[in-house]
Amino acid sequence: MPIMRRPTLGSLLALAVLSGPAAAQYPTKPITVIVPFAAGGPTDVVARLLGDHMTRTLGQTILVENVGGAGGTIGMTRVALAQPDGYTIAVGNMGTQSAAPALYPTLKYDPAKSFAQIGIANFTPQAIVAKKDTQAGNLKDFIAYLKTNSAKLSYGHAGVGSISHVSGLVFNAKFGLHPTLVPYRGTGPALQDLVGGQIDYMVDQSLNVIPQIKAGSIKAYGIAAPKRLESLPDVPTTGESGVDFIFSAWNAMVAPKGTPPDIVAKLADALSKALDDPAVQRRYVELGSTGPQGADRGPAALQKLVESEVAQITPVIKAAGVTAN
Ligand code: MLT
Repeated sequence: MPIMRRPTLGSLLALAVLSGPAAAQYPTKPITVIVPFAAGGPTDVVARLLGDHMTRTLGQTILVENVGGAGGTIGMTRVALAQPDGYTIAVGNMGTQSAAPALYPTLKYDPAKSFAQIGIANFTPQAIVAKKDTQAGNLKDFIAYLKTNSAKLSYGHAGVGSISHVSGLVFNAKFGLHPTLVPYRGTGPALQDLVGGQIDYMVDQSLNVIPQIKAGSIKAYGIAAPKRLESLPDVPTTGESGVDFIFSAWNAMVAPKGTPPDIVAKLADALSKALDDPAVQRRYVELGSTGPQGADRGPAALQKLVESEVAQITPVIKAAGVTAN
């Protein structure tokens, strides 16, 4: 059930003060960005990249705090319940902000109602990757290998409801695969185990896996997008391999519901400036990611995305018959 935050006298006073001159002076101290997954993974990389630029725009340090667990819902619950003063915000993702309600019947937040949306941070296609000594030469052969052997194989993901979990559910269901699912606190540590050969395969954001694909420490079988990535020109799309599987992920920045609109506008403006920075754009291209442009920027676009994605993903998850608790 979504949280109903009961306003305390302190929070009402803080809000009254914040909607006045304090909002105009915001920020006057460091801002904490909760990343609801482990350090080194896609959400962490995006939060640090954007946070670094936003620090310069806002004139106050943006501190990243990793609060992983339960597919990112622990960290996002912390932010939903935080004081709505602009000093605790989060970078969530498609999992925490769209898939989680269908998977966690007792979830304490509603992605569309418990947050003041700041803006979409990026869109990233999923990549199908395996440990480096996997023998299959292409995606079709890899799927055939998985079909015969999946009961003996393991699939790594970032916890129930995370993007890697949901995209894996869709991929595995589509091809009738039943691997052992191994949850981590983020795909940063899951990827380390794929490199080490402790798990067999993942469907994960290109943002996370491109450096290891380029280093030859894991094998890439396909990009689940209509077009190849500029930074991985040799890796075919799923469609080019004759496989019908497209899956795009996204990250987004949010604050607790009730954060004064002036403060949300300052954060949205700082996010937009970071997205316009050529160095941020170059890094996105290197990692296979794309920043939102035009009408996809800002709070209203994110609100629309969350609502439409919850409506799309919920039936897929219900059909898969999975819940977290
Ligand atoms: C992460 O940051 O670890 C990922 O975004 C997790 C996920 O697959 O959702």
